[in-house]
Amino acid sequence: MSAPLMFSPEAESVPEFSFGPAPRLTSSLFSEEVPLLEHEFDLMRQLIYDRTGICIADSKRALLIGRLGTVVKERGLRTFQEYYDLLQRDTTGDLLTELFGRITTNYTYFNREPDHFQYLTKNLLPSVPKNERIRLWSAGCATGPEAFDLSMHLQAHLDATGYMQEGMVLGTDISRKAIEFAVKGVYPVDAARAVPPENIPRYLEPVDKQHYSVKPRIKNLVKFRVMNLLREVFPFQQKFHAIFCRNVMIYFDEATRMKLVKHLAEHLLPGGILVLGHCESLLSVPGELKGEGASVYSRRA
Ligand SMILES: C[S@@+](CC[C@H](N)C(=O)[O-])C[C@H]1O[C@@H](n2cnc3c(N)ncnc32)[C@H](O)[C@@H]1O
Repeated sequence: MSAPLMFSPEAESVPEFSFGPAPRLTSSLFSEEVPLLEHEFDLMRQLIYDRTGICIADSKRALLIGRLGTVVKERGLRTFQEYYDLLQRDTTGDLLTELFGRITTNYTYFNREPDHFQYLTKNLLPSVPKNERIRLWSAGCATGPEAFDLSMHLQAHLDATGYMQEGMVLGTDISRKAIEFAVKGVYPVDAARAVPPENIPRYLEPVDKQHYSVKPRIKNLVKFRVMNLLREVFPFQQKFHAIFCRNVMIYFDEATRMKLVKHLAEHLLPGGILVLGHCESLLSVPGELKGEGASVYSRRA
């Protein structure tokens, strides 16, 4: 547990899906109805670190109480120790899935960090030979906007090639609830606040005054799956032309981050790109990758 936890402000204040701007912290969220003893705090954060890679700093006790205290109560348990014991005995994986859903921060929105999509459209997509099926992966996609952004740009590229080429987008996340949300493809209009107005009709259509839904031809290119990025082996037979893993590793320590970067790099085609969040630039770049600027890394041949 070496690295400090780096939950963003929105992470602390928003227990459910959030497309921002973030509401501020309220005291009721942190009411200590279920006390969290020191050794219980250590057990819980070690479990979370081992299973998700997410580091929880000493200062984040209230966050854990806020997010998990309700689960303890909902399950009719009296203490976090009882909750921890139940998690250890759970053979279905359901309790862990619920824990992941509560502890992860699914904050996202359409067209976040847009220069990465420019790199994709200007540099990466035109470089893929026309006889190759373009494969893009949004790893840690939360509720899906990043995967649909990729799909929209991919579709525009396929349109321009006159359908001589094929493509697909994979969106994965550890949070089952986030993936269930993504599969529906319906978002509050605020989730598209960073999309230039002229681009909205390219992939979103109004459902009512408050919601957009993703257009079928954009949705059809995307498959969503629940997947933990910490798993030892990724279940893919083919490699990807681009992997977007943005704003996921900010919660990981350096060792976990490096291990994941190397694992992701193994699943890139030569010349393929790994894109991290702007605040996640690598301190040291592994030999198989080459920095292309703005937290974009290309796979060496
Ligand atoms: C802040 S969101 C980022 C969403 C999107 N990539 C973006 O930049 O807008 C981080 C996502 O990473 C996911 N995540 C965290 N740890 C994970 C893990 N070990 N495996 C898979 N997903 C994980 C969380 O569930 C969350 O949805």
